[in-house]
Amino acid sequence: MNKILDGKILAEKIQSNLRKEISDQHLTPGLAIILVGQDPASQLYVAKKKIASRDVGINFHEYLLMASVDESEILQTIDFLNKDEDIDAILVQLPLPEKFDTDKIIKAIDPKKDVDGFHPQNIKNFLKNKARITPGLPLGILRLIEETQEDIQGKEAVIVSKSHVFCKPMSKILTDRQAKVVIVNPQDKNLGVITSRADILIVSCGQPFLIKENMVKKDVIVIDVGTNKIDKNYIIGDVDYSTVFPKAKFITPVPGGVGPMTVAMLLYNTVKLAKLRK
Ligand code: GUN
Repeated sequence: MNKILDGKILAEKIQSNLRKEISDQHLTPGLAIILVGQDPASQLYVAKKKIASRDVGINFHEYLLMASVDESEILQTIDFLNKDEDIDAILVQLPLPEKFDTDKIIKAIDPKKDVDGFHPQNIKNFLKNKARITPGLPLGILRLIEETQEDIQGKEAVIVSKSHVFCKPMSKILTDRQAKVVIVNPQDKNLGVITSRADILIVSCGQPFLIKENMVKKDVIVIDVGTNKIDKNYIIGDVDYSTVFPKAKFITPVPGGVGPMTVAMLLYNTVKLAKLRK
């Protein structure tokens, strides 16, 4: 089996299944994305989501707002989309420009249309096994780990991240599959000791070259969530790929690993919400 966990190929497979499902079941899923401001990375992510949506047959609606708008305009747009019968899934692209209250804006989304699963009600439901959907990023990572066909049960999974929004669902998904999960802050002085114990290592920090060869054990499964722009055309992850690669049993590349899977899972969750609303 190939050591490189190819997120592009897996995402294409998932999208091809969705395309068939949408066509066979005559579904008309509608996804609305609100993008506030002109952050180039966010513009690029939204463009990728648009292309992929249209490719599988999801009706994609894009709401581009200036960073100078009043918060009430964002809330009014969400209210409009909450009521729009053609819209099954709403996503507010994050991060929002700093002046906006992200929590308040996420809370305004109808929980039934919250395709990220970020609404507090949906986070609570997810932790109680009552959610409609699993948040896209951790779900995409699970699918990548499952591609290895290695057992998750009994393994030590280490998550290196400061983000609770990410760690909580990721940890639950792995704990539910009987992994022993350890969450570690990237600034922890024992980081290397903790990561060296990992059978499955998931890194999401935004720090290039954070994880080096001497911080991982042989035959580890490495999932690199980082996307760090080194110069205009060069993106790398949080893991020092060239030195960690020889020791890993499986590793996700950046780009082409986790990134395409988050798009595929967004589409998967959009179709799921559309079917639930039907
Ligand atoms: N920005 C980067 N990733 C994501 C995501 O998964 N959802 C939203 N809403 N914004 C993002």
